[in-house]
Amino acid sequence: MTAIRGTIGVNKRPGELGAHSLDMFRMAVPDLAVAQRFYTEFGLEVREEAEGLGLYTTGNTHRWMGLSEGPAKQLTGFTFAVFEEDFEPMKRHIEAQGVTLIDPPRGIASDGLWFRDNNGLLIEVKIAGKTSLDGKAAFGDRDFSVPANTAGSWSRSSKPQVRPLRFAHLLLFTPSVPDSIAFYSRVLGLRLSDRTGDIIAFMHGIHGCDHHMIAFVTSGGKPAGLHHCSWDMGSVNGIGLAAQQMADAGYTKGWGLGRHVLGSNYFHYMQDPWGSWSEYSADIDYIALDHDWPAKDHPEEDGIYVWGPDLPGDFLHNYEADR
Ligand SMILES: [Fe+2]
Repeated sequence: MTAIRGTIGVNKRPGELGAHSLDMFRMAVPDLAVAQRFYTEFGLEVREEAEGLGLYTTGNTHRWMGLSEGPAKQLTGFTFAVFEEDFEPMKRHIEAQGVTLIDPPRGIASDGLWFRDNNGLLIEVKIAGKTSLDGKAAFGDRDFSVPANTAGSWSRSSKPQVRPLRFAHLLLFTPSVPDSIAFYSRVLGLRLSDRTGDIIAFMHGIHGCDHHMIAFVTSGGKPAGLHHCSWDMGSVNGIGLAAQQMADAGYTKGWGLGRHVLGSNYFHYMQDPWGSWSEYSADIDYIALDHDWPAKDHPEEDGIYVWGPDLPGDFLHNYEADR
């Protein structure tokens, strides 16, 4: 099993309050069977559960994603995790920010705190183990060179099956990037990592975290929605093999291979059946709990990528807002 879970209270920035992990997220989709096929081919374990479908990574019991059936694809909310000793202080803090706590949605058993963000998206804060990493993610598990007189690659028939190692982050469309930065800083204790003006911004947790656990891109005034969910593959070869697996399964529309500037990760995005994206990622920058990352405002040309193919024409189109 991949060791991704930390121990509550051990790796913690002292004296400061903030969510340590983006624990899971929820989506509604119009056809669960379509979702089951896509995410299974993507490399996730898809299980039928009371709510609909639960999505897991191989060898790990953590539920990263919950899917229910609805009239259209829609991001319906997500859960942040806090350390046990921070739960009551976080409750007082959230209420002191003027945020109204509400009951959990019907059918969801939860002892967590529920409220809506600046765009009306449903957020839960609960006590749970740290799923954000306690150090930089391992990289290069399938990237290697061989000595002279040796063939380095797999054959098409012998290439290994690859699967995501863990859920990494979300990028959301928002009508106002500054408003979202302000809300998630003020209410959840996240910090800005980097931004490109009011176009895109990346935020991390304060207790040791990838460069971003959640990010926001402008929707051009349209409602909020999911742009992509991201999954760590551990290597560039892992990304390439996974993208090939998707192509072999008939999912050919994507964007990659490339490398981001902000976060530095290698990527290949697959378009899901509803127009949003699932990212294969590797080697994202890491911000340790004792480091204050110097958040910068970067030129627009650095907002998306340093190298890679041209962006698909609808890469930044929020299909959730077309409903
Ligand atoms: Fe990403």
